[in-house]
Amino acid sequence: MLTVNHLAKSYDGEKKNLTDVSFQVAPSEVAVIIGPSGAGKTTILRSLNQLIKDDDGEILLDDVDLRQLNRAELRRARCQIGMIFQNYNLIEP
Ligand SMILES: Nc1ncnc2c1ncn2[C@@H]1O[C@H](COP(=O)(O)OP(=O)(O)OP(=O)(O)O)[C@@H](O)[C@H]1O
Ligand SMILES: [Mg+2]
Repeated sequence: MLTVNHLAKSYDGEKKNLTDVSFQVAPSEVAVIIGPSGAGKTTILRSLNQLIKDDDGEILLDDVDLRQLNRAELRRARCQIGMIFQNYNLIEP
């Protein structure tokens, strides 16, 4: 189970790019995040595997808060998380 509670992120300390984002995704469940450009979809996904440091909240993967892990623990947790980047840079343009 993935549980996100009250996730918040501001890139510049002023504009709130994510404010109080909460949701749950059960095992085998397929979830889609829909929103206009700039709404924060990529920011949420990058927070899930801690590619960016968010400001507040909880990201619980099977009751382990990914935000609280040290580097080695996070490396192990990331082995369970697949990510396809929006600009996936597979070949030179
Ligand atoms: N590295 C960054 N530095 C500063 N601001 C950023 C950064 N990345 C994203 N933002 C800002 O955060 C907000 C959310 O951006 P994000 O890329 O998460 O949106 P998105 O929903 O994925 O958009 P799109 O549909 O265009 O991919 C936007 O206002 C964006 O300008
Ligand atoms: Mg995006």
